[in-house]
Amino acid sequence: MKNKTIGLLTSGGDAPGMNAAIRAVTRAAISSGYNVKAIYHGYQGLINGEIEEFTTESVSGIIARGGTILKTARCDDFRTEKGRAKAYEQFKKAGMDALVCIGGNGTLTGALAFADDFGIQCIGIPATIDNDINGTDETIGYDTTLNTIMECVDKIRDTAASHERIFFVEVMGRDAGWLAQSSAIASGAEAAIVPEKTTNVDQLAQYIEKGIRKSKNSSIVIVSESPECGAMHYAERVKKEYPQFDVRVSILGHMQRGGSPSARDRILASVLGSFAVEAIKEGQHNIMVGILNGTPVYVPFAKAIQVQDKSDQTFLNLVATLSN
Ligand code: F6P
Repeated sequence: MKNKTIGLLTSGGDAPGMNAAIRAVTRAAISSGYNVKAIYHGYQGLINGEIEEFTTESVSGIIARGGTILKTARCDDFRTEKGRAKAYEQFKKAGMDALVCIGGNGTLTGALAFADDFGIQCIGIPATIDNDINGTDETIGYDTTLNTIMECVDKIRDTAASHERIFFVEVMGRDAGWLAQSSAIASGAEAAIVPEKTTNVDQLAQYIEKGIRKSKNSSIVIVSESPECGAMHYAERVKKEYPQFDVRVSILGHMQRGGSPSARDRILASVLGSFAVEAIKEGQHNIMVGILNGTPVYVPFAKAIQVQDKSDQTFLNLVATLSN
């Protein structure tokens, strides 16, 4: 009987630790007697047939590298039945029996559709800096990004304090405030603005003023990215309504997605990568592997992609209490 062949791809926004996951899937699969076919450029590469056989050597020296050696893409074609049918042709042509998809919400949504269309054994591994996946404590990449933001805010704090300024620091997270609220705690910020909660500018100004009265000479407010209500928006409003504050904005941008993964992300990626291969061995279908309350779990795709409010009022209150 022919050895099972596992296809492997990364898709959507890259996240630090994706390479560690690629390494883990490849090596765990090969040591279980499977073949591994790496697919470049995510679902787009699957449609185009950008496929290469991987050996254990193919993943040497990548555990410490940020980004993804498989490259990645956001693929509109894969959202269509026609696109997925083309991908299926390539999947069969390459002799693949199962597919491991590493990525965030969009990646898992794509995997669900592909599995539904063709009855393929698809396994997801949650990797996104946003941490917005249901059914797992944390996603690969989140911890590294949190540390990157913290280091940046520590630096911004130096200049903010020297000039006695209020800084609005914008962080990524798409629709989830997890990065903003956690980095606010980690960096001792005065407030966090998250998309899940409405923020009252007067209340924000009160926090800042209270800090200044207590002889704090600067303030940092972490703001989740948003097309209409990002850091610029809040800075403009505060500037207008409270002209006594010297306000600046710092948008951290894509540097948040780069860098060598933290130990925690490398370990999470290694555990989840080998767990994904276990799931294939067990004949699991259409699930994401995750760690929930410290225990490895299988999460159906439909549940993993459910939009959920991971923002935590306790965390937001803690930011306010500890900045007093
Ligand atoms: O999903 C990860 C993420 O970095 C989000 O935080 C951000 O909104 C988005 O990707 C940016 O995507 P792109 O790099 O395609 O502009």
